[in-house]
Amino acid sequence: MVESALMNGDCLTHLAALPDGCADLVFADPPFNIGYRYDVYRDHLAEADYLAWARRWIEQCVRVLSPTGAMFVAIGDEYAAEYKVRLDQAGLYLRNWLIWHYAFGPHQKKKFGRDHAHILYYTSHRERFTFNADAIRV
Ligand SMILES: C[S@@+](CC[C@H](N)C(=O)[O-])C[C@H]1O[C@@H](n2cnc3c(N)ncnc32)[C@H](O)[C@@H]1O
Repeated sequence: MVESALMNGDCLTHLAALPDGCADLVFADPPFNIGYRYDVYRDHLAEADYLAWARRWIEQCVRVLSPTGAMFVAIGDEYAAEYKVRLDQAGLYLRNWLIWHYAFGPHQKKKFGRDHAHILYYTSHRERFTFNADAIRV
């Protein structure tokens, strides 16, 4: 049976309440830490604090990920490499480093526009995982 629930609140609090290996899929879209103006969140932590926090939620996500599960992390240019290193160190297997190209966002006057984000696609196991190719075929 598939159970689902929407939990609104701090990710570390909610993740800590979940049992090991309960998630077949994790999709994380964390703050990029580039000074976006959110309503309740300050998106400009000191780099060390941001990465220490990232390590904590990555650890929790890996703990709840099932042995055949998949994890996606969406992130901007500034920290993509840092996340890649940490997800490798967490023992996951990189399947794709995807670039999401989008056609929205503010125009820039002094540099090129930001028209993409990185999506790091990892699995718990090197060979045993679900990939629904037909469902995403273009
Ligand atoms: C890049 S945005 C993702 C937006 C989301 N994908 C959406 O479409 O609404 C990062 C989000 O993480 C939230 N956030 C920041 N710290 C958090 C935390 N400790 N636990 C849960 N969410 C958090 C922010 O409020 C922000 O909405």
